[in-house]
Amino acid sequence: MAVSVPANTVVYDMAESSARQSGLAAAAQAIKAGRLVAFPTETVYGLGANALDPAAVLGIFAAKERPADNPLIVHIPDLAAVRPLVAAIPDVLAGLAERFWPGPLTVVLPKSARVPACVTADLDTVALRVPDHPVALALLAQAGLPIAAPSANRSGRPSPTRAEHVWADLAGKVTVILDGGPAGIGVESTVLDLTAAVPTVLRPGGVAVEQLAAVLGEVRVDPRATAAADIAASAGPVRSPGMKYKHYAPLAPATLVEGEPAAVYPVLWRLAQAALPQGRVGLLLTAEGKQRLDTYGAAGEPRLVVQVTGPRDRPDIVARTVYAGLRAMDDSGVASIFMEGLPTSGLGLAIMNRLRRAAGGRIISAGEGGSGQAGGR
Ligand code: TXA
Ligand code: MG
Repeated sequence: MAVSVPANTVVYDMAESSARQSGLAAAAQAIKAGRLVAFPTETVYGLGANALDPAAVLGIFAAKERPADNPLIVHIPDLAAVRPLVAAIPDVLAGLAERFWPGPLTVVLPKSARVPACVTADLDTVALRVPDHPVALALLAQAGLPIAAPSANRSGRPSPTRAEHVWADLAGKVTVILDGGPAGIGVESTVLDLTAAVPTVLRPGGVAVEQLAAVLGEVRVDPRATAAADIAASAGPVRSPGMKYKHYAPLAPATLVEGEPAAVYPVLWRLAQAALPQGRVGLLLTAEGKQRLDTYGAAGEPRLVVQVTGPRDRPDIVARTVYAGLRAMDDSGVASIFMEGLPTSGLGLAIMNRLRRAAGGRIISAGEGGSGQAGGR
């Protein structure tokens, strides 16, 4: 694997009109020269390189310390850019692109010979998406190349939703960071496998399964996408290699409590109280959850680190804040973390997929049989 080349990382504030032009020019130049650029998308920040240059792509894996068998998403400017990268275009693509591109939908298609093997981790398929962000689209236009880009975090850290998160993880490893402000969606794109007999969601994300079903009619969700933990090894061949990694594991053990709010809140409070003698306790809560736990006494407990994601009925707001909340937990040095589960409809499925992974199997179903029932390991 390529050695990560130290870079003198330059950050451009894309909200400033003077920095915008020079930032885009520097970023496009860096991409063409085989170097790494972190850029904003509507989902999370990406760590980009020329997708057609194997050495540049290997630089991504090195900078992130990403396992080489986890393939990358290739970002393209529009539907027309699909053609040279794939061996065949299925009929359903036009309708999907019409409805969801630019946007948080990644499609998996049979790859053409133009796509280097290191991009796809030797798979015969390639993942493609058109990001819905003016800076990402301007960069793709100016570079004139497809850009391979995973999320711009160090492997095993929460995905970055702000340029500051990218800086914290990758300063000195990327040439340019384009700061486009906070990401609008906050969780990654939906990965949809169009090579399966029935289109199959491999990773839930910014486009909800319900939205896909409205266009496709039939859509499957890979059982691993809703599973509690790393069951890839036991559940047949892995179609999306990323799913076999515990993407993000908090520094402190995290427990997810799922169920109806009335049952979840007392369990969260009981668990937090029981853990306090071992050190500070992190709580990842909705606004309602914080309100309720405050009435139990959380407000007066200085050893609690509470991160509020958003209103329970606004998964769009929760999605935007959840990764920053998890980063804050890590930064605060808590000894344990307890997280409030959400309904899995719409964007909730993507959020819960990330929280279940963060919990690594420590999942409690509150309200079933009165107490909480521990599942997983
Ligand atoms: O929103 C996003 O998708 C962000 C932004 C930057 O575009 N990117 C992102 O990339 O989340 P990454 O590398 O963190 O996740 C890519 C996911 C992984 O789960 C990977 O296994 C899957 O896409 N993937 C990539 N190529 C694939 C392929 N050929 N077949 C199946 N899954 C693939
Ligand atoms: Mg990622």
